[in-house]
Amino acid sequence: MGTKKLVIAIDGPSGAGKSTIAKLIARGLGYTYIDTGAMYRAIGWKAKLEGVDPRDERALAELCIRTEVTIGYDADGQRVYVDGRDVTGEIRTPEMGMMASAVSASPSVRARLLTLQRNLGANGGVVMDGRDIGTVVFPRADAKFYLDASPEERGRRRYAELKAKGMSVELAPITEEIRARDLQDSNREHAPLRRAADAEYIDSSAMTIEEVVQTILRTITRKQ
Ligand code: DC
Repeated sequence: MGTKKLVIAIDGPSGAGKSTIAKLIARGLGYTYIDTGAMYRAIGWKAKLEGVDPRDERALAELCIRTEVTIGYDADGQRVYVDGRDVTGEIRTPEMGMMASAVSASPSVRARLLTLQRNLGANGGVVMDGRDIGTVVFPRADAKFYLDASPEERGRRRYAELKAKGMSVELAPITEEIRARDLQDSNREHAPLRRAADAEYIDSSAMTIEEVVQTILRTITRKQ
């Protein structure tokens, strides 16, 4: 009998290292990594393209109806398409992060992406990262983690990541953006960023990537 294919939820604020960690966990288990933030970024990208105000619920609801967000996979991992156009690279800017955070407060946007996310995880064998995976998307996930780090440390990490991609960025505005997103994501009415009562809390501020991965894998092995 093979081992059961689990649904693993990793939530936490921006810049906590969720995607780095989730990718490594997925690779270690032979699971699929699903980045749900990229889906909100995709909707944010389209809203920006069309000049839709992210506070305009009706306009966003209408945009959702005629926008197709699809997910694909290649050797580099997940790719995101908006109406057939690959936007995977374009959505990785701080501006798109803020757009994503703004549109993610919309109940229409959330309802739309919830279906997509639940379908992708329906058969298990996924490591899904986001803000509400353990609380809303998969409240009965097999293993839940809440990955945190101080805003300063998250700012430094995000700065290093964007720098490594060759972007010309500065630390102070990035840390500022992280704080603004924390506030926005935690205080919205629908599916705010919150630690699920049964999620394991990991503060990675003083931990290496390897230590976080080992901590998570230990818990998962126990559950399997
Ligand atoms: O993880 P990220 O930085 O790519 O996410 C971008 C924004 O999308 C984030 O600031 C809030 C929103 N988001 C969300 O509301 N729910 C999720 N499950 C994932 C992301």
